[in-house]
Amino acid sequence: MTQAAAVKAPTLPDAQTVLSVQHWTDRLFSFRVTRPASLRFRSGEFVMIGLMGDNGKPLLRAYSIASPSWDDELEFYSIKVQDGPLTSKLQHIQPGDQIILRPKPVGTLVHDALLPGKRIWFFATGTGFAPFASLLREPQTYEDYDEVIVTHTCRDVAELEYGRRLIEEIKADEMLAELMGDGFADKIRYYPTTTREQSPRMGRITTLLEDGTVFRDLSIEGGIKPETDRAMVCGSLAFNHDIKAILEGFGLREGANSEPKEFVVEKAFVG
Ligand SMILES: Cc1cc2nc3c(=O)[nH]c(=O)nc-3n(C[C@H](O)[C@H](O)[C@H](O)COP(=O)(O)OP(=O)(O)OC[C@H]3O[C@@H](n4cnc5c(N)ncnc54)[C@H](O)[C@@H]3O)c2cc1C
Ligand SMILES: NC(=O)c1ccc[n+]([C@@H]2O[C@H](COP(=O)([O-])OP(=O)(O)OC[C@H]3O[C@@H](n4cnc5c(N)ncnc54)[C@H](OP(=O)(O)O)[C@@H]3O)[C@@H](O)[C@H]2O)c1
Repeated sequence: MTQAAAVKAPTLPDAQTVLSVQHWTDRLFSFRVTRPASLRFRSGEFVMIGLMGDNGKPLLRAYSIASPSWDDELEFYSIKVQDGPLTSKLQHIQPGDQIILRPKPVGTLVHDALLPGKRIWFFATGTGFAPFASLLREPQTYEDYDEVIVTHTCRDVAELEYGRRLIEEIKADEMLAELMGDGFADKIRYYPTTTREQSPRMGRITTLLEDGTVFRDLSIEGGIKPETDRAMVCGSLAFNHDIKAILEGFGLREGANSEPKEFVVEKAFVG
């Protein structure tokens, strides 16, 4: 997947060099950049990245780091908004180009913000999959939990491809198996759904949770339980709001770094 590129001397403040770019659809792409030697982060956190604006000032946006904390490089999974101030330009980056990366990671989708449990749910829509691309490659995920359920809801099948392929690669990777421990791959249960294009599983994950389809499909008796189940949520504001209500209906409480509880939520974008 990576296409090596010559690393140029930095010319921007907090500059990092683009190493590879992959376009998934006309609205989605992923890319890898060099990692600042000083950057430490917890898998699931986000940073500010961007380009120099036409006015000579940095144009920055929040981005989840899609790679795990142990990776030598940084990966990002991005939308392309045609008239978006940043992504109308960012979508054209090439290996060897530079981006700005402020090395101050923050975020709530971290293991520290959850109380111990047996099963963790990652609920994503669209590019909200990005923090889970990091956490799915984080050994602690498999040390802490017996089961990892990943739901990803997108409009079309093509929008699922980055996540589908990543999970397939994670499950087959021998080096990751060594890092994450025997049998880690069997803990992952992937549950993709589409809402506007025909696919094997249709419907919003919220509807499929409310009518019990998810639990029947995954043979989970009694639904989500506060004693055993933990959840991380990343999608649009409306999605986060609806999933939060469902999780609270099951008796789970929203946690934070300072006060770990049973679930945590983060916006995949504003607006
Ligand atoms: C905590 C956090 C983490 C984020 N992580 C990511 C990430 O990993 N990948 C990513 O692509 N974006 C992410 N975003 C969104 C990102 O910050 C920008 O909004 C996005 O890059 C578009 O920037 P822009 O300047 O082109 O357009 P903006 O002016 O920022 O957005 C224009 C409009 O495009 C839509 N939009 C923006 N971002 C998205 C998106 N990701 N998916 C669907 N619609 C969108 C919204 O309707 C928004 O009002 C994150 C946002 C937050 C708050
Ligand atoms: N994806 C595209 O092809 C496309 C194309 C042009 C413009 N846009 C614009 O880009 C923005 C983001 O689009 P997006 O597709 O990335 O994100 P999105 O609109 O948040 O939708 C992503 C997925 O989440 C589902 N979803 C949305 N709200 C939900 C909720 N409250 N509960 C459960 N599921 C929910 C959607 O189902 P539903 O389909 O049922 O809403 C869809 O499957 C939107 O403003 C959109 O108008 C998107």
